[in-house]
Amino acid sequence: MSAFEQSSASEVSSQPADRIALQNISQMVSTNPMDTTSVGVERRPARESGLRGKVVVITGAVAGIGRATALRFAEEGARVAAWDVSDKTAPELESAIKRSGGESDFQVVDVTRTSDVESAAAAVAKRWGGIDVLINNAGIVRDAQLVKWKGSSPESMMSDEMWDSVISVNLKGVFLTTRAVVPYLIKANGGVILSSASVVGIFGNFGQTNYVASKAGVIGMTRTWARELGKYNIRVNAVAPGFIATDMVKAMPEKVLQAMVTRTPLGRAGTPEDVANTYLWLASDQASFIHGAVISVDGGVVIGT
Ligand SMILES: NC(=O)c1ccc[n+]([C@@H]2O[C@H](COP(=O)([O-])OP(=O)(O)OC[C@H]3O[C@@H](n4cnc5c(N)ncnc54)[C@H](O)[C@@H]3O)[C@@H](O)[C@H]2O)c1
Repeated sequence: MSAFEQSSASEVSSQPADRIALQNISQMVSTNPMDTTSVGVERRPARESGLRGKVVVITGAVAGIGRATALRFAEEGARVAAWDVSDKTAPELESAIKRSGGESDFQVVDVTRTSDVESAAAAVAKRWGGIDVLINNAGIVRDAQLVKWKGSSPESMMSDEMWDSVISVNLKGVFLTTRAVVPYLIKANGGVILSSASVVGIFGNFGQTNYVASKAGVIGMTRTWARELGKYNIRVNAVAPGFIATDMVKAMPEKVLQAMVTRTPLGRAGTPEDVANTYLWLASDQASFIHGAVISVDGGVVIGT
């Protein structure tokens, strides 16, 4: 038995809930999925999102996917704690959240700073009594080839600064923010953590060593936290967007953008709302048995045309 198998096995045998589940396995087989009495689970598939009044922290909330997500949760009547390093459009975002039907609390938060995320989480819990959902959305790109070769020597390389800045926001920022918020989710007897990965975190991408490493790391952390936090009734999942039309990608050359659309079987870029709707569903009661998953929102780009 490998070290991994040994540690997995000892985890299983030390969890009473797992033993109970195994003992009762025969009772869990039912021909009728709606027959909750014979499966011993007091739960029916939810038809409502269950998000009204829930406290949802969204990082990187003032632009792109984060902004669309803030507004989508507001439409469901959620309390939206919008965090961003930039407060440029914060007043406009707060008004839009309120108009959409939610409550709003914006804070300037740099996810790379432990003190920022910890004091912001404490402030949200103080204002609204706790936290129910965390969406780790903040992210940046600093693209360059690892080594761009010209003639007999390197023309350029990905710099230390490019590596450090992207890893700091996209990977360490997700770690710091989640570590700051999890105690509140445990105190609330459960919650949801969703993080932004990317299709490139699964498949790699030319010119994105730093970004790909950060997004692959988010996928790894998601699966690890799903194992660690499931026993607290905290569901942990990631989304892997493909090509979504936001400021992050609009900065790319037109011919690169066109090539990405051409490679997407649905023949278009995704919208921020496409990703926001996925976050909403994953956070909702309708996704109550989705855990440790990485959901692609990519128009089929990974299959190719
Ligand atoms: N747009 C895409 O095609 C695409 C594809 C895959 C994954 N993603 C991921 O989705 C997420 C959102 O991307 P987007 O396209 O909406 O980007 P965007 O650039 O439009 O918005 C990102 C937001 O994050 C904020 N931010 C940056 N650094 C921060 C920090 N240190 N602390 C707090 N906030 C910070 C920015 O101010 C901005 O408001 C990112 O994690 C990105 O990697 C995007």
